[in-house]
Amino acid sequence: MPETTWWKRGIVYQIYPRSFQDSNGDGIGDLNGIRQRLDYLAWLGADAIWISPIYPSPMADFGYDVADYCGIDPIFGTLEDFDRLIEEAHARGLKLILDFVPNHTSDQHPWFQESRSSRTNPKRDWYIWRDAKLDGSPPNNWISNFGGSAWEWDEATAQYYYHAFLKEQPDLNWRNAEVRRAMYDALRFWLDRGVDGFRVDVIWHLIKDAEFRDNPPNPAFQASQAEINRFIQVYSADQPEVHEVVGEMRGVLEEYRERVLIGEIYLPLERLVTYYGKDLSGAHLPFNFQLIQTAWNAQKIAALINEYEAALPEGGWPNWVLGNHDQPRIGARIGPQQARVAAMLLLTLRGTPTMYYGDEIGIGKVEIPPEAAQDPWERNEPGLGLGRDPERTPMHWDGSAQGGFTSGKPWLPLDPHFRSRHAEGLRNDTGSILTLYRRLIELRRQHPALSVGAYAQVKTEGDILAYERQHGSERLLVALNLGHEPQTLPLPAGASGRLMLSTLPDRNEEPIGAQVVLRADEGIIIALGV
Ligand code: GLC
Ligand code: CA
Repeated sequence: MPETTWWKRGIVYQIYPRSFQDSNGDGIGDLNGIRQRLDYLAWLGADAIWISPIYPSPMADFGYDVADYCGIDPIFGTLEDFDRLIEEAHARGLKLILDFVPNHTSDQHPWFQESRSSRTNPKRDWYIWRDAKLDGSPPNNWISNFGGSAWEWDEATAQYYYHAFLKEQPDLNWRNAEVRRAMYDALRFWLDRGVDGFRVDVIWHLIKDAEFRDNPPNPAFQASQAEINRFIQVYSADQPEVHEVVGEMRGVLEEYRERVLIGEIYLPLERLVTYYGKDLSGAHLPFNFQLIQTAWNAQKIAALINEYEAALPEGGWPNWVLGNHDQPRIGARIGPQQARVAAMLLLTLRGTPTMYYGDEIGIGKVEIPPEAAQDPWERNEPGLGLGRDPERTPMHWDGSAQGGFTSGKPWLPLDPHFRSRHAEGLRNDTGSILTLYRRLIELRRQHPALSVGAYAQVKTEGDILAYERQHGSERLLVALNLGHEPQTLPLPAGASGRLMLSTLPDRNEEPIGAQVVLRADEGIIIALGV
């Protein structure tokens, strides 16, 4: 794959469709809403949009419980709306990536209805059914990611079925060849409609231990954590045979031109990189969530970037993520000043950046009153702060009622700052975070050093994180102050340069001599040797 491949150079923008733009006043975002906002996405400079699931679903997990892999839920629109969306996206040079949820279906999916109808049904083996232990208890100690046993007793056929998430999300049996064939056909259904790739949900979960052995206890478990952490997930996920499945999915995409396979994988680095597959035959981009999981500390992040770069297989393309619909927003985590520094980090690292909608307008911490809670995880394990509603609140488009998101009652409350923090206002404000995002994206597009250039760390101490990006004769120095005190950074020996961009608005292009002072919470990009 050449360096120019769109998913290497480009920027992915994640849309949580319920919360982007409502077009019919029911308070829930939809496909026509997304279509109305394509001009905004093109203006911002996104290259691709990834849309969280839009398939028919009872919405027990807001679309991650799929009842039909080849349709559109009426809440989001119709297949015709989808075709129109993809056509208009492509007309603006925007690629469209769908979320694919292969690990589990909805319990309302006809396949599961058949599977649970009798022990001899031809689809019985499409799901994971096991006998109870002699005392009637579940087959092993596996815990659901949303709390409680991962096994649900089925009275009618007197067996347990396995669900890694809600009991309304039974896991498919990916050791079954018919399941694989049916799912690959679903991929082709969308690829034939012009979809440019998939983000595959919990891809490391697809294969479970063939013997269903108990997971070992986690000695570090604390009661403040989600219950799943009581055990170390040795046998319930990340099994060697999963790579065969990932390779087959990749093979389906290879039947088409320039499609991308992104895998959602929460694993330590050395396990994560195995998902590139042998000779890069696996996922193009195994999602790298390390920035979400690492403390906001210059030395820790510097070490992490080195570790990641070193762990990548030869030719494996890196990628970086700051947030998504399952993780506290970056603005909530590190505050508005550092959120600007984070934007510069994301858009100047080597590798494909994935942005999360709303981060570009600086949505921060949003309190969701208990009576407004929607996320099933919050309801299953309340009070631990596990709920994902705060990062799913509606986008703010303008200063009108409900931020222009809906003319009705929004399904989740908006960030109360929406009247002063909306795309329309920030767009015209040269000092806004939105302007910063747009300029960073523009710079990345104009300078191959930032998109495909080499990465080299610059040795620093304290709160400064500094690195160089290089391509041809171009050398760019990125220096980020992750602290709240000014810091001085000497330029590399003999070098001088020119400031290209600061995360703070009041600093213009200026020559830089032997050293540069970074103000509190400031990040800068310097072109060296010019
Ligand atoms: C993934 C999704 C998350 C969902 C879960 C189960 O982690 O990102 O939102 O709840 O899978 O499908
Ligand atoms: Ca709607």
